Amino acid sequence: MVIDSDVEFLGDLLPVAEQLLERHISTVKEWHPHTFVPWSRGRDFEEDYEWSPEEANLPPEVRSALFVNLLTEDNLPYYFRDIERMFGKDEAWGEWVRRWTAEEGRHATVIRDYLTVSRSIDPVELERGRMVQMCGGEVPEPTSAADGMCYVTLQELATRISHRNTGRAIEPYDRVGYDILRRVAADENHHFLFYRDLAQAGFERNPSEMMAALERQVTNFAMPGTGIPDFAAHSKLIANAGIYDFVNHYEGILEPVVLGFWDIANVGGLDAEGAQAQERLMAYITKTAKVAGRMKERRARRADALVDAS
Ligand SMILES: [Fe+2]
Ligand SMILES: [Fe+2]
Repeated sequence: MVIDSDVEFLGDLLPVAEQLLERHISTVKEWHPHTFVPWSRGRDFEEDYEWSPEEANLPPEVRSALFVNLLTEDNLPYYFRDIERMFGKDEAWGEWVRRWTAEEGRHATVIRDYLTVSRSIDPVELERGRMVQMCGGEVPEPTSAADGMCYVTLQELATRISHRNTGRAIEPYDRVGYDILRRVAADENHHFLFYRDLAQAGFERNPSEMMAALERQVTNFAMPGTGIPDFAAHSKLIANAGIYDFVNHYEGILEPVVLGFWDIANVGGLDAEGAQAQERLMAYITKTAKVAGRMKERRARRADALVDAS
């Protein structure tokens, strides 16, 4: 059930949702997970099988990224619950939620099949991680449709960046893994575009509420996966490898979408609360830009030092 205070907002946005759903369906191309998986590499797992990192020879940060990315995809039932609660089951909203869920389902399928046949990560650790993650069912639970639209836009784009960069990190070791993650990232991009444009229409109709929601979601944003075992340690490895860190977050999301596409600095028609949220959000983003800039400089200096040393 959609919450009462969202009924009018979602009613206003229904024609936009219909249009974006139509655009989505006419743009995306059908694809089949089984055609991406290198089945010929697969073999039975003996009863006393014990995984070792030499099996696929991937660096630890790449294995961490695969582990976190897949377990996040596995948590789909809880994301579905949130999004259905936010949009409801009816009309274009419900149709979108079901379509989105069906598309997302392919991601865990293709990544897990790939990891199983390529033996890239420990299958026992992966399954135990899935059990912990799913028994916890921990996902952000946005409290309004405006919050939800802002969150899912940020989240779809963040997962797109993370899958894409994970693929790039695998490429030197395994081209197949690269292709799979690129394919998944392309899906996340289509989802992102749906939500980004829906939120844009939300800003046009209800700027104050959207601005307050965006401020909450940007300042509290965390990559999905907080219920995954050893999430903090995995995140650290992933960030240090540049697969997803503060710099990606600023340059890939805040700058092009929040400042650029939504152009939040110039959103007008705000009430007092909306204007305050806008001011705080701009201050937060300015601060984030500085931190990201410093991190980037440090990274460049480290890379130069490595070149000099070699
Ligand atoms: Fe996904
Ligand atoms: Fe997605």
